[in-house]
Amino acid sequence: MNSDRLKRLRAELERFDLDAMLLRYASNLRYISGYSGSNGLALVTRDAAFFLTDFRYKTQAQQEVSQMQVRVPVEADLFAALAEQGVLKASMVCGFEGNRLSYESYVHLEQLFPGTEFRDASMLMETLASVKEESEIRDIRQAAAISDKAFLELLNEIKPGISERRLDAKLSYIMKSLGSERDSFDTIVASGVNGAKPHHKPGDKLLRKGEFVTIDFGAMVNGYHADVTRTVCLGNADEKQKEIYAIVLQAQQRALDGIRAGISGKEADALARDLIAQKGYTEYFGHGLGHGLGYEIHAEPRLSPKYEEKLQVNQVVTVEPGIYIPDWGGVRIEDDVVIKEKGCLVLSAAPKTLLEL
Ligand code: GLY
Ligand code: MN
Repeated sequence: MNSDRLKRLRAELERFDLDAMLLRYASNLRYISGYSGSNGLALVTRDAAFFLTDFRYKTQAQQEVSQMQVRVPVEADLFAALAEQGVLKASMVCGFEGNRLSYESYVHLEQLFPGTEFRDASMLMETLASVKEESEIRDIRQAAAISDKAFLELLNEIKPGISERRLDAKLSYIMKSLGSERDSFDTIVASGVNGAKPHHKPGDKLLRKGEFVTIDFGAMVNGYHADVTRTVCLGNADEKQKEIYAIVLQAQQRALDGIRAGISGKEADALARDLIAQKGYTEYFGHGLGHGLGYEIHAEPRLSPKYEEKLQVNQVVTVEPGIYIPDWGGVRIEDDVVIKEKGCLVLSAAPKTLLEL
């Protein structure tokens, strides 16, 4: 685990006038401590760092957690166990994950630590984690490479008569066989009219000749997500299918050509959105152009009409325009890219010319 992260978190404590940060959310815990289990708590103060977990994760925490004092209390309630440590004092201002912690937990904290001021520090960790280190980019690149290879293998299986669910299962098997820890998220296989639903859940529907099939999937390496989408045609595409596919591909290429550090998430989004609008399909592209990737599948930053912040070197984002037409179907094409000073580096490489299988 990179030793810089605690230092960078402490700089944020100073910036936001916090004496400590309390973490419970798995991705944030993993980022700051290296711990990959499901139950844990970290308290990082200006000059100390504690990690608490339960008996089930004792050995794992001892192996994975670095630069923190690991405690494995008998007490199952980790907030109560933290209180027993006596490190979070009544005089302190403590940040917490307001966007992650349950209301019940918050009330419990207030009861356990009277006098301590708990301050919402939503997105503090997410912002900290958005610019990637080289090793993180390596993991996402590897996850993207597995996804690419798996897609090429899957092409042999995409035939009329196979169900969406079976294709999903086959893809999962192929990705795991190639070294993926697990599917990055629930794979989307959307055929024919189902393609009009950006997040269609694969079902029993059988693929038919003449249909588009959108497959949105990703492998995972060391907890890092890839997120790739390709749309293929079963048999020859008709004129409308060719038109829509060409627009989405052109919109994506325009975004890939224009995305670089220093432009805002909104400007990045507009690169693709304006082109889709020019072609008359504004209302059929109803989601943002992309999102950050990391230990979370949807992370900071966002490429969307509402995101005014500027993109930074070594943030990793998806670029995924789509057109979705009710009762017809849809097309989405998605790649993962690293933002650089003068452009972006595309990590995924599965073919994008319209495949007519
Ligand atoms: N891959 C699914 C999504 O980005 O929403
Ligand atoms: Mn995505």
